[in-house]
Amino acid sequence: MSSDAPRARHVAIIMDGNGRWAKKRRLPRALGHQRGVEAVRKVVRGARELGLEALTLYAFSTENWRRPEEEVTDLMSLMKRFIISDLDEFAEAGVRLKIIGDYTAFKPDVVELVDKAVNRTSGNSGTTLAVALNYGSQDEIARAATKAAAKGPITPETISAELDTADMPPLDLLIRTSGEVRLSNFLLWQAAYAEMYFTDVLWPDYTAEHLKEALDAFASRERRYGGR
Ligand code: IPE
Ligand code: IPE
Ligand code: MG
Repeated sequence: MSSDAPRARHVAIIMDGNGRWAKKRRLPRALGHQRGVEAVRKVVRGARELGLEALTLYAFSTENWRRPEEEVTDLMSLMKRFIISDLDEFAEAGVRLKIIGDYTAFKPDVVELVDKAVNRTSGNSGTTLAVALNYGSQDEIARAATKAAAKGPITPETISAELDTADMPPLDLLIRTSGEVRLSNFLLWQAAYAEMYFTDVLWPDYTAEHLKEALDAFASRERRYGGR
């Protein structure tokens, strides 16, 4: 790889395929989500080791409320357990936790735990880990446009400045696992010039090595931004 090969600063992942991973093994979906959390742990470690400035993970979409209540509850309790078990490691490694999406729609105990975790890591200057909770890109853009309009003219810049990702580097690479080839309302604005990478690997099987493969593929892409 030549030294002027593009180096990704900000990578986002649509972590998909937990249900199919479980189904293939005739296991309950909840177990697929549980294994999915283990993949998150490995990939966050990998992102730190690879020196990424920012990693954004799609954990719960504004559309995921359509799932059965039991599954939503399982996802919430996994999220809580993950924060409780892993916060120390991330905080000590300099990770700055950030949430995108309107997570205040979650139950008060989840909101409180998330707030505490975000506050605890807010002074860190290592990798930013942005977790998308109750996130939908259309909702984010609507919220940003409302705020921008209250301040003055609406332009791409004034909207960008109000997005949940405003303090993050531009999105370089967007990965989706599980073979689906769609964005499912994730980072639509930010992906304007991001490189896309789709893999058939189901999220619970995803490792830091897979992330490295995606980054290697990114390094050989030529980004033109409309120029020539
Ligand atoms: C991704 O796995 C996790 C979330 C959306 C929270 P899925 O639960 O969507 O798994 P599949 O797509 O049904 O396999
Ligand atoms: C996108 O996956 C949301 C997350 C990964 C959190 P979904 O599984 O919800 O997306 P669709 O329904 O297949 O588009
Ligand atoms: Mg899915």
